[in-house]
Amino acid sequence: MDIKKYLEEKKKIVDAALEGCFPNTDATGCETGYPSSLYQAMRHSLFSGGKRIRPILSIAAFEAVGGKGDKILPFACGLEMIHTYSLIHDDLPAIDNDDYRRGKPACHKVFGEAIGILAGDGLLTKAFELMTKHSFGDQEIILNIVNEIARASGISGMVGGQVADIESEGKEVDFPTVQYIHTHKTGALILASVRTGVKLGGGDEETLKAFTHFGERIGLAFQIVDDILNVEGKAELLGKSTGSDLFKKKATYPSLLGIEESRRRAAELMESGIDLLNPFGPEVEPLKEIARFVIRRES
Ligand code: IPE
Ligand code: IPE
Ligand code: MG
Ligand code: MG
Repeated sequence: MDIKKYLEEKKKIVDAALEGCFPNTDATGCETGYPSSLYQAMRHSLFSGGKRIRPILSIAAFEAVGGKGDKILPFACGLEMIHTYSLIHDDLPAIDNDDYRRGKPACHKVFGEAIGILAGDGLLTKAFELMTKHSFGDQEIILNIVNEIARASGISGMVGGQVADIESEGKEVDFPTVQYIHTHKTGALILASVRTGVKLGGGDEETLKAFTHFGERIGLAFQIVDDILNVEGKAELLGKSTGSDLFKKKATYPSLLGIEESRRRAAELMESGIDLLNPFGPEVEPLKEIARFVIRRES
């Protein structure tokens, strides 16, 4: 299959759905929303060339288990809003202090720190508003999904990982700590994206188990590759600065294991993740191709 085309097509669908959540203008052509700085800041970060990997994973998993129609879209958009909020806050001076994101000045560089913080808050809460607003279908499944996305984003997921990440800066940390950081700050939301698709698409327990192990592996591989790209990627392709992990003495796979070993481990995770999907039919092909893309990506 042509994965490039697949990603482009799914990205278009996600972008259109997100656009519907944050329209630039209302029916009369007036700018929507007051305070406009908040809307502009959220749109600045949301519509600036993200890969949309999390929403696309949720759609791919949903379709792989036989899910049909648009009911995945509120969750796909919610996952991307939560991810975008995490990027805005991650770039703040108090966290990673990065000036560029998605090929543009970071949110706080354009709108200031206060609006950056609040734009992140706005996106996070909007995600939950959206996911619970469209609660057609099986209420129990939807409640279960929203609960899982909250856990993956919060203390026992991304927020916990982010705290461990900043508290490990400049320190000699052991491998389990780096593993904790990566599986929580990044892996948790990627895993939740895959599991959301399976649950909403009606996958059975066996399928959920296999897709969970797949999601865990590609979630970790995704952050290892992010670390590698911070060392040897091209800033113009990534749309964010490189070399910053070394400068900030971040706890990363390359800093602990070196580039070659990091690359080997990422590839191994990807291969074993794909193997877990082998018992399934051609409908899992997009997920396998996304896993391969995670490893070879340059942005
Ligand atoms: C970057 O995520 C931050 C991490 C969690 C590794 P992505 O590489 O998915 O960033 P975008 O969404 O494409 O900008
Ligand atoms: C990002 O981790 C994780 C989250 C935003 C939750 P990094 O700080 O390593 O990612 P980049 O390199 O800034 O995108
Ligand atoms: Mg960070
Ligand atoms: Mg960062």
